[in-house]
Amino acid sequence: MTTQSDTVTRLAQHRRYLMCRPEHFTVSYSINPWMEPSRPTDTAKAVRQWQALHDAYVALGHEVELIDPVPGLPDMVYTANGGFIVDGRALGVRFRVDERRGEERPFMDWFAAHGFEVVEPVEVQEGEGDFLLVGDTILAGTGFRSVGDSHRELGRVFEREVVSLHLVDPRFYHLDTAITVLDPVEGPGGVERANIAYLPSAFDDGSRRILAERYPDAIQVSDADGAVFGLNAASDGLHVFVSPRATAFAAQLEERGYVPVPIDLSELLLGGGGIKCCTLELRGGAR
Ligand code: ARG
Repeated sequence: MTTQSDTVTRLAQHRRYLMCRPEHFTVSYSINPWMEPSRPTDTAKAVRQWQALHDAYVALGHEVELIDPVPGLPDMVYTANGGFIVDGRALGVRFRVDERRGEERPFMDWFAAHGFEVVEPVEVQEGEGDFLLVGDTILAGTGFRSVGDSHRELGRVFEREVVSLHLVDPRFYHLDTAITVLDPVEGPGGVERANIAYLPSAFDDGSRRILAERYPDAIQVSDADGAVFGLNAASDGLHVFVSPRATAFAAQLEERGYVPVPIDLSELLLGGGGIKCCTLELRGGAR
């Protein structure tokens, strides 16, 4: 499926994702500013909202793999933090926070059982929550969870350029809460560089300069849309799965020929996660 805008043709690319049904979802501890254990959560509602995201991916032709949820690991639904995978090689995670360390082994075991080459991590990092593949480059976040040394480890493991970015707002503690990868696009002259959308106020000055230089055509998203987790979106190059509350961002996407697909994960936001957090991309590897 494609759409045509004035300048480019958007192409939907096939995606393979790993998700985890939030059967044990709750907020029993607080490790980010969104989590408030005294506020009640509705697990059935979380499952329904998650299912809508799952079904939207499948309806648009994507493949969704599932990892079994483990009782007592309420954050396991946020599979983006389960690892980082490129070309069939899966770097496991080493969580900063003790509450989530129990997820490390189940994710690595799943990768191994599904034909991925697993690399056990040394440094603290939280997977695709902080590492985003944009074209051939890996953007890597630090400031709250993943440590700077993990960026060097990442470069060694994947032999790709790694660009470190510093997050400064505790509400946007993972890189995927402040950047959406919009994927390679085809323009009149062929393939253009992969583009992103980002929330400038989530970054320090140096990182903002890097982003402006590297991605002059990026969509800069408003604080209002950032605050509803608008940037925590997934794109297949054409469809952008995004919070229905990020209305101005949706309009910016449409202007450029993307098709926003609104998915409401309000219940999962009580844990400080959204669409992208619930989605880990599986790149390469055996089936
Ligand atoms: N409660 C989880 C945590 O604080 C939410 C993780 C969100 N994941 C993400 N990729 N941003 O770790």
